[in-house]
Amino acid sequence: MSGTFKALQASEGANGFEQRIVERSIDDLPAGDVLIRVSHSSINYKDALSAFGNKGVTRSYPHTPGIDAVGVVESSSDPAVRIGDQVIVMGYDLGMNTAGGYGQYIRVPAAWVIRKPESLSPEDAMVFGTAGFTAAMSVDTLLQVGISPDQGPVLVTGATGGVGIIAVWLLHNQGFEVVAATGKADQHALLKSVGASSCVSRESLLENANRPMNKPQWAAAVDTVGGDVLGNVLKSIRYGGSVACCGMVAGPNFTTSVFPFILRGVNLLGVDSVELPLDVKQDIWNLLGGKWLFDGFATFKQQVSRTVDLAQLPEALEAVHNGRHVGRYVVKVS
Ligand SMILES: NC(=O)c1ccc[n+]([C@@H]2O[C@H](COP(=O)([O-])OP(=O)(O)OC[C@H]3O[C@@H](n4cnc5c(N)ncnc54)[C@H](OP(=O)(O)O)[C@@H]3O)[C@@H](O)[C@H]2O)c1
Repeated sequence: MSGTFKALQASEGANGFEQRIVERSIDDLPAGDVLIRVSHSSINYKDALSAFGNKGVTRSYPHTPGIDAVGVVESSSDPAVRIGDQVIVMGYDLGMNTAGGYGQYIRVPAAWVIRKPESLSPEDAMVFGTAGFTAAMSVDTLLQVGISPDQGPVLVTGATGGVGIIAVWLLHNQGFEVVAATGKADQHALLKSVGASSCVSRESLLENANRPMNKPQWAAAVDTVGGDVLGNVLKSIRYGGSVACCGMVAGPNFTTSVFPFILRGVNLLGVDSVELPLDVKQDIWNLLGGKWLFDGFATFKQQVSRTVDLAQLPEALEAVHNGRHVGRYVVKVS
């Protein structure tokens, strides 16, 4: 199939990186088994990094970001993926060095293609997107090591971000007492309305950073920020508790001692949504479209997400890049 389509393209201009809507040719998409007409994408922190020229995410420009895409299969050379299938693609190389979901078409290997749960509309799927998937994986990781609501409160850092706010909702709906840590004092009401029992400030998590250990407070934590926050949170985890670590907005490095691990048996659990085998990705999506699609999702969606089109996308990317946003942006691509 040939023809043209619209896409957001990030490129380096005289005044730094800029994003424009351009016309692209389907023939110019990378080789791959499956051509997908994209209806929706979303904005994740990594998309903002790619759109603003972070070479650790995207090596060469001009480039179309978008690590998430949902749409319909237009052609496929793999019998496992059929024309007309409604599918999700997330992670692997999509939107990093492979043209991503901010274009109306993508072409990808069949090994990247997830079946969209029927219970989720394309828009619902992108309310979750990689952020919701990562929140679900983080919660699942904690459940797998035996964390349960009777053990005490669970801390979520970066709570107004995409991963954070969905983690708050998922934990609350599974009976956990959730404490939301945020840098946005004006968003406590929102965080409580989606399931936080209480809120603490981002700064409070850095208190007593010079002590070898802190008072045990949290049964577990979902940490989306990394850096010094992660180093200090590890010292406040209760005996035998765990931290699911997935993000680095506060920095990639942190300092710790062995004390949380050898005095309290704390577990630090890594969460990666990108290179995970496809069958595990499908299982997590089936959870989000099944058992974990809790009552009240429609209200949650309305509270935490807003939809932008391609023309509005540059401004939304800038808000995410500057950490000014709350919750999730869904991108209506076609
Ligand atoms: N491991 C994986 O596979 C995976 C997948 C998805 C995302 N991630 C990572 O997870 C992190 C969160 O992703 P996201 O999409 O949720 O991003 P996001 O929507 O931009 O949210 C990040 C949140 O972190 C907080 N924050 C911002 N700057 C901070 C700082 N300097 N120090 C401490 N907190 C800060 C803010 O929340 P408050 O204002 O409420 O504090 C912000 O809303 C990113 O590092 C992302 O790369 C990893």
